Amino acid sequence: MGATDPVQKVQARTSQSALRYQTGFANEFAGEALPGALPEGQNSPQRVGLGLYAEQLNGTAFTAPRAQNRRVWLYRIRPSAQHPSFRRADNGLWRTGPYDEVVTPPDQLRWDPMFIPAAPTDFIQGLVTLAGNGDAAAGSGIGIHVYVANQDMTDRYFFNSDGEMLIVPQQGALRLYTELGILDVAPREIAVIPRGMRFRVELAEASARGYVCENYGALFRLPELGPIGSNGLANARDFHSPVAAFEDRDARVELVTKFGGNLWACELDHSPLDVVAWHGNLVPYKYDLMRFNTIGSISFDHCDPSIFTVLTSPSDTAGTANCDFVIFPPRWMVAERTFRPPWYHRNIMSEFMGLIEGVYDAKEEGFVPGGASLHNCMSAHGPDAATFEKASAMELKPQRYEATLAFMFESRNVIKPTRFALEGGLLQSDYQACWQGLPKHFGK
Ligand SMILES: [Fe+2]
Repeated sequence: MGATDPVQKVQARTSQSALRYQTGFANEFAGEALPGALPEGQNSPQRVGLGLYAEQLNGTAFTAPRAQNRRVWLYRIRPSAQHPSFRRADNGLWRTGPYDEVVTPPDQLRWDPMFIPAAPTDFIQGLVTLAGNGDAAAGSGIGIHVYVANQDMTDRYFFNSDGEMLIVPQQGALRLYTELGILDVAPREIAVIPRGMRFRVELAEASARGYVCENYGALFRLPELGPIGSNGLANARDFHSPVAAFEDRDARVELVTKFGGNLWACELDHSPLDVVAWHGNLVPYKYDLMRFNTIGSISFDHCDPSIFTVLTSPSDTAGTANCDFVIFPPRWMVAERTFRPPWYHRNIMSEFMGLIEGVYDAKEEGFVPGGASLHNCMSAHGPDAATFEKASAMELKPQRYEATLAFMFESRNVIKPTRFALEGGLLQSDYQACWQGLPKHFGK
């Protein structure tokens, strides 16, 4: 690419200064990268300014209730329809619901982190499915993936027809070039890319690793706050969406999509990130998890972990999520006469956990950054023996949990591991040993 290549110009301009964003959660945003690109007062003029094409992208049904309705109007150099037929591409280790490769055991499961590969691997090539539930074609459930990458997507673009993608970086920052503009997302932040939106991923460092929740169901939204009131948990103003930016790039590139559980690809003669202006509320966004207003007990016991919900994808049953994205961030523990780590637990909901950094308060060993655990429906779990003994004897002073950031994808349906998850070499065969040392105190 030459120095005048628009992609390089975009990179040069954005790397010299911090990106600008629009703030708010799913607001009616608008913007234009060039004056005159965004129509005033209507969506689809007879002739759009600057010779652009108008196109709508719908993330909910036309007739979805207004409070949930999400769509965006795009003013672009070429319409998205201009592409040749897709051909099947290698799925790699990406899997999709229904998950029936292997039988799901009732055991607690835990995995070591994925290694960064030696071979050149971009974000899409390095995406590996650990587990999931539901059915992408039926519009419910989730796919749970880890990604490892050491290469930018430069001539490859991607869109996911099966779901929106919640990206949780664990190691190495990402720069997400999307149809609506550019997002920088680093560990301790998350990003969500809407279903169908074209994007590519560049790495800020030599390599990157993280987690992805592919949400086949209702779009992630902020949870209700109930008696908490009108503020708290993740506040809407702390979500950031991009300002309009585009690539006017005539070059041979590959466009990959995931549709019906399979990867498909075709060649384009131009960048699909050619949206010069847009308005709407179906937008990519990012959120700094350190801005989460963590709420907990200031008397005794602790609240159910739902108090840590950042985003929720509801199901058709009230209060019973298709997926909750929950975090366990740095926080104070002050509860009196209380066993402070998470209590022992069996749950109808299924819990997949990852660790972004530090140590999780129920497990001081074995659950490491980049790793994962799965406690499925009615799978008993809780503190390991060492944590139980320590927490039962400790002096209950106010205590700051400083270096810790764990998260959970919690789902109403059993989360089924893939064959790779059970047989790929990352599964810890001795996980149950962490509870075997719990002594019988009764009667002593
Ligand atoms: Fe639990």
